[in-house]
Amino acid sequence: MSMQSHMLRCTGCAQRIAGEAARSDFRCPDCGDLYEVEYPWSESASGTTAKDVPVNRPNPFALRHLWQERRTSTLAVDQSGVWRFRDLLPIVADDQAITLREGNTPLYELPKSAAALGMNWLLAKHQGMNPTGSFKDTGMTAALSVAVSRGFEWVACASTGNTSAAMAAYAARAGLRSMVLIPEGKIAWGKLSQSMDYGSMTVQLRTDFDGCVRVLTELVRRAPIYLLNSVNPYRLEGQKTPAFEMLEQTDWQVPHHVIVPGGNLANCAALGKGFAEMKHLGFISRVPKISVIQAEGANPLYRAMQANGGESLEPVVADTRATAIRIGNPASWRKTVRILKANGGWCEQVNEREIALAKAEIGAEGIGCEPASAVTLAGLKKLVAAGHVGREETAVLLLTGHTLKDPEYTIQYHRGQLFNAAELAGATPAELGQHKAFQKAPLVLDANVDDVLRALDAVAATAGQTA
Ligand SMILES: Cc1ncc(COP(=O)(O)O)c(C=O)c1O
Ligand SMILES: [Zn+2]
Repeated sequence: MSMQSHMLRCTGCAQRIAGEAARSDFRCPDCGDLYEVEYPWSESASGTTAKDVPVNRPNPFALRHLWQERRTSTLAVDQSGVWRFRDLLPIVADDQAITLREGNTPLYELPKSAAALGMNWLLAKHQGMNPTGSFKDTGMTAALSVAVSRGFEWVACASTGNTSAAMAAYAARAGLRSMVLIPEGKIAWGKLSQSMDYGSMTVQLRTDFDGCVRVLTELVRRAPIYLLNSVNPYRLEGQKTPAFEMLEQTDWQVPHHVIVPGGNLANCAALGKGFAEMKHLGFISRVPKISVIQAEGANPLYRAMQANGGESLEPVVADTRATAIRIGNPASWRKTVRILKANGGWCEQVNEREIALAKAEIGAEGIGCEPASAVTLAGLKKLVAAGHVGREETAVLLLTGHTLKDPEYTIQYHRGQLFNAAELAGATPAELGQHKAFQKAPLVLDANVDDVLRALDAVAATAGQTA
């Protein structure tokens, strides 16, 4: 891959550096902000390329055709739902892409949730259907391929669980050594088990996610380890591709709204970059509004938007059962604020009961997702109630993780054991009734048919009452 295929541009002071020149922590030495990958055809690069250097602006008509054609190819890079779009992320040579055929995730309709909201059309892009069960795979294939192309032997990340699962899997495929730093006792079992299964050095630190980031930043300064957190701008190049895929899946009809969960706040930035590139290159004529939903106990962006329109952000001590977004000091908050302002979306917060109810509703659609993903539906309810999302508009929820990532949460919810008394005391009888209607705790019966039939009759009778 030629050196000129891309540059890194500081999103704070606009200084440009070669990809290889970034510091180990991927922060600009001058202003401390994060980089983004810039191509000669990028909007931000216009006017910066010497006049005699051809820009080779990608052609939307040719690419739409090529991307469809690659779907029937037997080549791994063509089958990948990330590298299929490699013309817009030329960061490694084709034969250097480490792929598990990520992406290619379904766009489902949510008819029951749409009806409950009075909306005509509500969709869910289920990124939990990626190889390791979360959207992180799309970013990891990109950044880990760069690590390989740069000759690194070790890669590392701090994680609330999904990044570590993705990194461990892709490192294993590439034959690299990997180390994950995770907060002890605060990640879901499914995720912890993955990094061990994929052979990673799994380190549980006695701190939270933000503490893990602090240790890792110092570690990569002192050892030749490639940092794979989402401060690494190549992660976002992979994570922008679900925007392309979503547009293909809607036959290039741009949805009015895309709703994403907010943790470290890189995903919103990545999708925003993807949609902006589509518009700049002429694939689409407008971009969707992108709204970010945070858990009430991990809501630094929500607070910042309320307090000062996102000019500055105060870290919080984060606490939520949606462990994937239990992040108090999000690295990419400035990038996300720029997207919220450019696209015109909102930032909302939702409480623990709202998250659990939304998760149950998505589960009842036969889809399911992990708690952090369910904030999207919980947040959408608020956006509709506030009139920000019109009932006649189309919205796409980004479901970021698979329901099997955190089965403990789901079981506790259905057994009625998730919330403490104080939390339940805050619920109205109507809300408690909604929870009850979704909770399906397992029945424990003696092994005889009469008992099972009696139970069946009882359930059928209740269904009759609520129908
Ligand atoms: C399932 C899930 N949803 C949402 C997020 C939040 O994404 P981001 O950190 O890019 O805001 C994460 C990771 O942090 C996650 O694992
Ligand atoms: Zn800078």
